[in-house]
Amino acid sequence: MKKDFLSIRDLSIYEFSQLLDRAAEVKKHPRKYYRALEHRILAMIFQKPSLRTRMTFEAGMLQLGGEAIYLAPSDIQMGSREGAYDIGKNLERWVDGIMLRTFGHQIAVDLAASTKIPVINALTDLSHPCQAMADFQTLREHKGSLANLKLAYVGDGNNVCHSLMLAAARGATKMAVGTPAGYEPKPEMVQAAREDGKDTGFALTLTNSAEEAASGADAVYTDVWASMGQEAEKEKRARIFAPYQVNARLMSHAKDGALFMHCLPAHRGDEVTDEVIDAPSSVVYDQAENRLHAQKAILLALMGKKD
Ligand code: CP
Ligand code: NVA
Repeated sequence: MKKDFLSIRDLSIYEFSQLLDRAAEVKKHPRKYYRALEHRILAMIFQKPSLRTRMTFEAGMLQLGGEAIYLAPSDIQMGSREGAYDIGKNLERWVDGIMLRTFGHQIAVDLAASTKIPVINALTDLSHPCQAMADFQTLREHKGSLANLKLAYVGDGNNVCHSLMLAAARGATKMAVGTPAGYEPKPEMVQAAREDGKDTGFALTLTNSAEEAASGADAVYTDVWASMGQEAEKEKRARIFAPYQVNARLMSHAKDGALFMHCLPAHRGDEVTDEVIDAPSSVVYDQAENRLHAQKAILLALMGKKD
């Protein structure tokens, strides 16, 4: 594996599948790994809020025998008090890895370039690769395999959508993305996914129709309409995205028993209704649980003993 995990693009098709296997193994036999990262320390830099990411990285490091140190936005004031370069140069003298949640993706790239220790992207405005690993672990658990499934993503063509497309390209999972016009995933991410999946059986459809995206899907995924940092656009987006709500009517276009997926936090009543997120076919809490296992696999790959 590369030194850093900044994007699903850092993984070959083989490494993607190996990481999913390792995540499943760690989930099944957690005790085997209780000392795997003994005395290793992860610094966790957060410039945005979090429940799942902080909890799962911190609990994951403790369960692997290591430690995690939380650095809140007000602590290091990245970018104003000190830039990514100097932060990376300092942290590598004390700890064994860095996890970063920030705004611009370039900040994560700059941090990774500044330091010899691994840097893990725990969400940027461009991508959320740890989420996609947990999501594909969840899909595989519920559907047995990833190949030939149809994953529908409905809503904003955002960071989560980008990482799902790149993961689908590696898993040979077909994907349909339904967004309002003007809110499609970034063309360079679409192109990257198509390039990465050209030999895997991956296919990607982009549409402005939520129904077309959901049609015949094995799983329907959505995310918030306004991501962290877009709070000022919340009302405008609520109007534009209203026809993209995942409700029972939209789910009726998917296959019988299709899974409902969401990275959480969810805004119930906006992008998803209670009846869908609370239905037996909703796997949102499995996704949240798998953040722990998928990230333990990533931590082991990047911070474990190289032998
Ligand atoms: N899904 C996710 O990343 O959740 P948090 O923002 O709570 O970490
Ligand atoms: N797209 C959302 C994901 C939150 C986990 C955001 O960036 O806020």
